[in-house]
Amino acid sequence: MGFRQDHLLGIEQLAPDEIGEILDLADDYVALSRSADKHGDALKGLTQINMFFENSTRTQASFELAGKRLGADVMNMGLEASSIKKGETLVDTAMTLNAMQPDLLVVRHPHSGAVDLLAQKVNCAVLNAGDGRHEHPTQALLDALTIRRKKGRLHRLSIAICGDIAHSRVARSNLILLGKMENRLRLVGPPTLMPAGMAELGCEVFEDMEEGLRDVDVVMMLRLQKERMDGGFIPSEREYYHLFGLDAEKLAHAKPDAIVMHPGPMNRGVEIDGSIADDINRSVIQEQVEMGVAVRMAAMDLLARNLRARRAAA
Ligand code: NCD
Repeated sequence: MGFRQDHLLGIEQLAPDEIGEILDLADDYVALSRSADKHGDALKGLTQINMFFENSTRTQASFELAGKRLGADVMNMGLEASSIKKGETLVDTAMTLNAMQPDLLVVRHPHSGAVDLLAQKVNCAVLNAGDGRHEHPTQALLDALTIRRKKGRLHRLSIAICGDIAHSRVARSNLILLGKMENRLRLVGPPTLMPAGMAELGCEVFEDMEEGLRDVDVVMMLRLQKERMDGGFIPSEREYYHLFGLDAEKLAHAKPDAIVMHPGPMNRGVEIDGSIADDINRSVIQEQVEMGVAVRMAAMDLLARNLRARRAAA
């Protein structure tokens, strides 16, 4: 069967075997990234453009390193430097870049669906690095790789995703991926930050952290996405921390070997206690960052293989 995609726009489009193929290759790239010479040549001769219309630290750095480790020419385009500020539309900017013959276009955009639209206009492989509250496929894949390596499997685990579910593309992509892999999913958060219809999707919904975390294998915390909120979703950060912030007391309800995850950036003292985030026996937050580079290497490698095959057949 093999990986069949022209783009990586969301987890929605991926079959379980394709997810497995990305993760297997990413395992190889973890080993390469830990070796003395971190270089491969899977993307040699290819041009990768990173277009970030929203702030990013981890994701952009990780895509850049991933491309460089595999030999691509990598260019970063930040929002500040682009002509979008002068009124150019997203599609015009994309068409301009397309004329420079890129092979891989990595795009982050504040509007849900913007990356899908762009993929229809260009003739290279497009990777979604986060579009609005829609999807963030490489984040879900790196989370999956982290879980698989820590727990030894990616199915029949009990996983709690906690906090601002409603505004989170990380939660959405993770729900889709972990659901496809047949895990038990629990969503924990205040009703104001819980999208409707989650129970119908097969998730258990909790308003109470201690109940929601009971006996889970994985605790995934999310940042309050204040930039996507247009009013009072929570009474105050202090009260939010009291009710939903992950501290030792709440974590004690999870399994004794439960791992703690966070996609970053973290707000210590808002959704997570700093000492939990830094506890190397529980927190895998740094591993997630490491897995991010490997997963992006794997995703770009597989897309580049398909791109080359398409071009050779044309
Ligand atoms: C996430 C994002 O941008 O969606 N961050 C990330 O990519 N590591 C989560 C967030 O911003 O809270």
